[in-house]
Amino acid sequence: MSPNPRRRVALAGATGVAGQQFLVSLENHPWFELTTLAASQRSAGKSYAEAITDAAGHRQWFCEEPLPEAFARMPVVDSDQLDLKDVDLVFTAVESGAARALEERLAARVPVISTSSAFRYEDDVPILVPGVNLEHAVLVKRQQRERGWKGYVAPIPNCTTTGLVIALAPLARSFGLRSVVMTSMQAISGAGRSPGVAALDVLDNVIPYIANEEGKVERESRKILGRLEGERIEPLEMAVSATCTRVNVRDGHTEAVTAGLGRRVPIGEVADCLRAFGREFLDLGLPSAPAELIQVTDDPYRPQPRIDRGAGGGMTTVVGRLREDPVLANGIRLVLLSHNTKMGAAKGAVLVAEYLLHRGLA
Ligand SMILES: NC(=O)c1ccc[n+]([C@@H]2O[C@H](COP(=O)([O-])OP(=O)(O)OC[C@H]3O[C@@H](n4cnc5c(N)ncnc54)[C@H](OP(=O)(O)O)[C@@H]3O)[C@@H](O)[C@H]2O)c1
Repeated sequence: MSPNPRRRVALAGATGVAGQQFLVSLENHPWFELTTLAASQRSAGKSYAEAITDAAGHRQWFCEEPLPEAFARMPVVDSDQLDLKDVDLVFTAVESGAARALEERLAARVPVISTSSAFRYEDDVPILVPGVNLEHAVLVKRQQRERGWKGYVAPIPNCTTTGLVIALAPLARSFGLRSVVMTSMQAISGAGRSPGVAALDVLDNVIPYIANEEGKVERESRKILGRLEGERIEPLEMAVSATCTRVNVRDGHTEAVTAGLGRRVPIGEVADCLRAFGREFLDLGLPSAPAELIQVTDDPYRPQPRIDRGAGGGMTTVVGRLREDPVLANGIRLVLLSHNTKMGAAKGAVLVAEYLLHRGLA
């Protein structure tokens, strides 16, 4: 289906790292027309180009793709003053503290697709990942009924959770999943730009701690891989142990994963299962979907962020180094790479919105 006319969408947090990626994802989008750009009071009243240009005249645009000219000239409004009169849907890319009140106000009127954690852990809120758990989307109806909202909040996960659950979902479905041990090597862009990660901290270095990240990954992965029972989610019963580190990479989160499956499975079968994942979802032909959700490589030196993060336009999770694991029962090991600002943020959120529209939920 192709909605006619296109849905008019607003973007809050338009000037940030994730927000900039939304501009790229929504340029000439066949279903969505980006009509309103919003950020903090700091940016309000400026053109978008002025808002991302610092006092020294440096335009702080972080995408590889050029800033779309039409958006550069658009005015930026204060998110708190966002006028929803001519808006059908809002994307938010704001830090969770500020997102809470903002998303609550917006969701009372229109659907809100959020990159923040503000609502992720509430019982009536799904955490949506393309191809993995979109059946959880029906929870938005419960939100509308119980909260009296015309819209709803539909968050995507933390960007480290995204690649992890995409790789784990087919294994959980086909073989069962008991335990997961994951160590991430996360890109700098994942920290955003305010305050972001200081060059002096990360250059020639690995930072072994990211505040609040490990708890998010552990909690979100259980919820996302959980079962929908009526209008509630029963989290998957699995032990998850996450260690999250920051490395000197611009974009693309790498994760070393050991998983204990429900039974012993030959590695070739695991690879086939990963390769086949998501066919039904991909056959919907949604505009931002890649050709494959997971790409499996046999090259023992891959995936690498610099080489592989662009797979499927940043929407394909690349999995390599598949091996048996001698420590966990029925254990397998792999290394995955997921683009944190594309599938893990903006373009992933746009793909979720496309699905919600396709399902008649937006
Ligand atoms: N970076 C990633 O890879 C990634 C991935 C997945 C999810 N996320 C999530 O996306 C959200 C944004 O992250 P980011 O990395 O893009 O951060 P960022 O680069 O620091 O950008 C923050 C954005 O929020 C705006 N903002 C700040 N305070 C605000 C307020 N009080 N009211 C309204 N807007 C406000 C900023 O506007 P001004 O420019 O006007 O200050 C800017 O547009 C966070 O919740 C983050 O967890 C990020």
